[in-house]
Formats: sequence, structure tokens, C-alpha cells
Amino acid sequence: MTAIRLDAVVRTFGSVRAVDAISATIAEGELFTLLGPSGCGKTTLLRMIAGFSDVESGSIWFGDQRIDQVPAHRRNVGMVFQSYAVFPNLTVEQNVAYGLRARRVSRRDIRDRVAEALALVQLPAHNTRWPHELSGGQLQRVAIARCLVIKPAVLLFDEPLSNLDAQLRMHMRVEIRRLQKSLGLTAIYVTHDQEEALAISDRIAVLRDGRIEQVGTPETIYRAPQTAFVAEFMGSTNIILGVAAGFDGSATTVAAGGAMFQVRGRAGAPGAKVLLSIRPETMRLAGCPDAGGPTLAVRLQLREFLGPLLRLHAALPDGTPIRVVTLGGQGAQPAADGTLNLIYDPGQIIAYPAP
Ligand SMILES: Nc1ncnc2c1ncn2[C@@H]1O[C@H](COP(=O)(O)OP(=O)(O)OP(=O)(O)O)[C@@H](O)[C@H]1O
Ligand SMILES: [Mg+2]
Repeated sequence: MTAIRLDAVVRTFGSVRAVDAISATIAEGELFTLLGPSGCGKTTLLRMIAGFSDVESGSIWFGDQRIDQVPAHRRNVGMVFQSYAVFPNLTVEQNVAYGLRARRVSRRDIRDRVAEALALVQLPAHNTRWPHELSGGQLQRVAIARCLVIKPAVLLFDEPLSNLDAQLRMHMRVEIRRLQKSLGLTAIYVTHDQEEALAISDRIAVLRDGRIEQVGTPETIYRAPQTAFVAEFMGSTNIILGVAAGFDGSATTVAAGGAMFQVRGRAGAPGAKVLLSIRPETMRLAGCPDAGGPTLAVRLQLREFLGPLLRLHAALPDGTPIRVVTLGGQGAQPAADGTLNLIYDPGQIIAYPAP
């Protein structure tokens, strides 16, 4: 088990600061996810940790060893890519054995360790199939086995599941998590899928323009996002621009979308512009047995039946869109004029200063 420390790591490409002084400490055995939009520097940071890309300034540590000047093949890192990176001209067995051959491990040890690695990813041992005979999920298992066989100190994943269909993605992420936990490996996992990040991580770092915007457990990042960017990126939320009106000692009244919202706590001085973040699942349909709190009249525009859930697309009085997600069983019946009454919890609305 190896802790990883990033200390003010920088990498620029021309005028782009791809990784802009990132510092973080990843504990032994932790699965730490880098989450962020395309181009925010996730791959660049991972490649520097693996040794495929030079660190411009700052340092990277595995335990108490500084490794950013150590060549890639001596860092004992396994990296899994989106594109599998499986050699097409080698069989499954030969692919998995590749790293051991390069390390001059004896033939007998190679045979045992390849069988062991294949078993870990639930592929048959003594596997003489060719990559073109495998499904995407099986190819990704080969890629993972190839990493595990060298007994890496650190596992790096760069969007390993992006090429798989939705169902297989959900299945494989559970397997990756099980393996990582049972082997006690420290892992850094890159994704731009927020649900995957929530599901798989011990902690998540949300990146924006080469910087860490927030680090925390999935629960913290989801429930207490520190910025509107994190709130919006992490799961869907309604971000509505408003103006603080008054504070009554416990809640602030905010005018937004042509309606008046109650927001717990002091959301801003009177007249201050604020961004309200309201998660779609925190609102209820008026008339639900468990619903209590201030109400909000919206105009229903579209309903999407999603099986267990119902997603409503509605509009606030001034036309601002607002989405609501409720359990599918509760039929949302609007009034004849299309109006629907929602109930919300002032403690579930987060207000951010508007830029
Ligand atoms: N070799 C390179 N030469 C020039 N610019 C680069 C190079 N590699 C990355 N960049 C730039 O650095 C920034 C970060 O790129 P990076 O690939 O790390 O993003 P990412 O977060 O992995 O994005 P994605 O989700 O699309 O994979 C981008 O602006 C990208 O264009
Ligand atoms: Mg990338």
C-alpha cells in the first residue's frame, strides 16, 4: 500500500495551464477520483503520475519516495486506458504476461501469476483467445489483468469504462471497486461521469481549468458543493439567478424566476445577486403525504416516465426552466391551466454569490 502526494504539480502546453499547481494527498488503499469537464487536465495529471509526461514544477511522492524524476517503468504503476491498449497480435495470456516478460520473471512464475491475474478479473486461465475475439468488457478485463499482474503499488484508471455500454459500465465499476478494495491498492480514477464518480470513490476531486475546485467524500461533494460549478457538475441541479430580498432571522427571501423562494440561513444582503441551487429530487408534489414546506407554482411542460422515477420539465412564472424528479408512482396531475404546485425544503436550497 502506497500513499500518493502531489505537491503543487504544474504542466503547461503553450499558453494553456493544463495542470495548475495541483496539491493533494491520497491515502493508502484509497480510491481517489478526478472528475471534471473535458480539457480540465485529468489525463495530463494522470500521465505525470505514471511517468509518461514530464512534471514542469512541483513534485510527486509515493510514500516517502519522490518519484517524478523516476522513469515510468520503475514507478511500479499500472495504468488502464479507455482504449484498452491491448496488443492485437498477442493472445490474452501473452498480453497479461507482457509486463512480466519485460521484467524478466521466470517462465513458471509467469504462468502462475498470469493465471492468478486472469482469475481476479474472472477470465478463464490459459487463455489463448485473440483480442479480436473478445467483447469490450472482456478486453477491459484483460487490460486490468495486465496491470494487476505486475503487482503495482498504484493503479491509475483513465476513463476505463467509457467505451462500454451503460449496463456493462455499471457492472464493471462494481468489479473494479471490489478488486481495488480487496487488493488494498491505492488508485486514482479519472472519469467525467458524475454518477460513476459518486458510486466508486472514497473521495472525489472536482477539477476545473487545471485546478481543484473541491475535494471531499461523494456525500459531501453532492450535498455540500462549495461552488455553483461543483453543484452543477456533480449531478443535475437547477441553478437559478435571483436577488436576495429580506432576512427574517432564520431564512432569506430570494426573488428568482418570478417567484419568491425561502432559503435557510443568510443567503446574501438585501439586493445581492445570488445563484440558487435546487436539486430536482429535493422537491415534492403538493398533496404527497410526506410533503411539508413552502410551495411553488410551476407550469408543467413535459413529463418523462423513467420507470422508477418521473422527471418533470417545468417553468417558473418568468419562464425559467426547472426540473423535478419524483418517484414514478406519484402521478403529477397539473391543474387545467397546466399549473403544478411543488413543495420544497428551504434547508435544501444552497445559495452562492452570483458572479
Ligand atoms: N500534448 C499536448 N499538447 C498540447 N496541449 C495539450 C496536450 N495534452 C493536453 N493538452 C491540453 O491540456 C488541457 C488538458 O488536457 P487533458 O487531456 O489533460 O484534459 P482531460 O481533462 O483529460 O480531458 P478529457 O475529459 O477530454 O479527456 C487541454 O486544454 C488540452 O488541449
Ligand atoms: Mg482525458
